[in-house]
Amino acid sequence: MQHFFFTIFLLLSSSCFIYQTTSKSTIEPCSNSDTCSSLVGYTLYTDLKVSEVASLFQTDPISLLTTNAIDISYPDVENHILPAKLFLKVPVTCSCVDGIFKSAFVHYKTRPSDTLSLIADTVYGGLVSADQIKEGNPSAVGSDPSVLNVGTNLWIPLPCTCFNGTDNNLPAIYMSYVVRPVDTLAGIAARYSTTLTDLMNVNALGSPAIKEDDILAIPLSACASSFPRFASDYALSVANGSYAITASHCVQCSCGPGSRNLYCMPASLAVSCSSMQCKSSNLMLGNVTVQQTGGGCNVTSCNYGGFVNGTIITTLSSSLQPRCPGPQQFPPLVVPPTSVGPDVMFAPAPSPSESGGAPMDGPHSSVVPASGSVIAFPPSGGPSGSASSACLLNPLASFPIAILLYLCVKYVISLPL
Ligand SMILES: *[C@@H]1O[C@H](CO)[C@@H](O)[C@H](O)[C@H]1NC(C)=O
Ligand SMILES: *[C@@H]1O[C@H](CO)[C@@H](O)[C@H](O)[C@H]1NC(C)=O
Ligand SMILES: *[C@@H]1O[C@H](CO)[C@@H](O)[C@H](O)[C@H]1NC(C)=O
Ligand SMILES: *[C@@H]1O[C@H](CO)[C@@H](O)[C@H](O)[C@H]1NC(C)=O
Ligand SMILES: *[C@@H]1O[C@H](CO)[C@@H](O)[C@H](O)[C@H]1NC(C)=O
Repeated sequence: MQHFFFTIFLLLSSSCFIYQTTSKSTIEPCSNSDTCSSLVGYTLYTDLKVSEVASLFQTDPISLLTTNAIDISYPDVENHILPAKLFLKVPVTCSCVDGIFKSAFVHYKTRPSDTLSLIADTVYGGLVSADQIKEGNPSAVGSDPSVLNVGTNLWIPLPCTCFNGTDNNLPAIYMSYVVRPVDTLAGIAARYSTTLTDLMNVNALGSPAIKEDDILAIPLSACASSFPRFASDYALSVANGSYAITASHCVQCSCGPGSRNLYCMPASLAVSCSSMQCKSSNLMLGNVTVQQTGGGCNVTSCNYGGFVNGTIITTLSSSLQPRCPGPQQFPPLVVPPTSVGPDVMFAPAPSPSESGGAPMDGPHSSVVPASGSVIAFPPSGGPSGSASSACLLNPLASFPIAILLYLCVKYVISLPL
């Protein structure tokens, strides 16, 4: 329930009373230094290389892959071509911009025949509106938004939420999700292991009715770290089913299915890394030994304690537990996708074998597309942005309706026709 009080609805563009379509998104107020890791749900509009998707969101290709539990040990994986319509979770830093959480660091460099609506609706899949890009880039866009100079650097203000990294007092990471025509709130709740009530609370929905292009904040259960504040990966949190890569690509952490404990081990790409052995023991990061004793099970583990001044902090811990724990379960890794299934959603592979074995054992058999493939550009004949966009409302919940209507009318009148 606490989210209700933090959540206000923003009427996006196209919301003038003339056009009855209103897209909603959940916005969360913040103060200047607030920041968190968040995700956006993104559907590829065309075939794109891993590195191209990453650069659209200014994220690291390896983090993009591990967030989606895609095997990074695959050869030349950053140049792998991902198929159009693939759904990915993209990690973005959620920062406080003018009192509201947004992606502060996502930028886009315009290409020939780009329009604001093409960038908003197609390239960024409806995560942002043309008006929001225009409002966020007053000097770059100018008075005629249909004329964009090629190579203009545009800030892309994507919606994101932090809600203190918790949902119902349990660790959570929030994903901004654009509703598709086939979606129901119950279906989304089931897909992301949450409940209808929780989604309604988080998004302050009065009813479970949702519309195409609404943007929901979906809480994904997560495992939180307790690294010291001076660690560069302080507050690392990993969503259920994902991996996070940290410590200069040396350490990977995950939240095992059915567990709330963050589990970290050397990353498969670890090359020149500082020592990952626990002091005064022969255990490496991620190693666990169990010893049945009269009083219970003596569990000793070598754990990751954060990345401090370029050093991987390890801590050895021992505890006496009533029962010996089973093998650690890891999120199943998938090979880089080359096609999209019939339901057009990227679904992770079925659960790992009961061995709970190493997470890097994914199959390596699927075919890598030839590296000379054509890089697709956005279709040039996309919808052109113009008359249907109407008033841009500032996200002030208490804005009197009369002023909104006035601004609407004023904006419509001022539209170049
Ligand atoms: C945020 O969560 C932390 C614990 O994770 C808690 O100590 C703190 O009070 C919370 N802050 C707010 C504003 O809820
Ligand atoms: C994590 O995901 C798995 C499968 O996706 C699901 O069965 C499980 O309930 C989830 N765990 C939590 C704590 O949400
Ligand atoms: C300890 O961890 C390393 C690295 O993950 C692994 O190669 C090794 O097999 C583990 N040893 C034991 C005893 O679990
Ligand atoms: C548990 O095992 C560790 C090393 O294996 C040992 O140092 C520690 O004393 C043991 N603790 C208990 C309570 O047996
Ligand atoms: C990191 O290194 C700097 C300079 O080398 C030092 O001043 C600082 O105390 C170190 N921080 C930690 C947490 O060790």
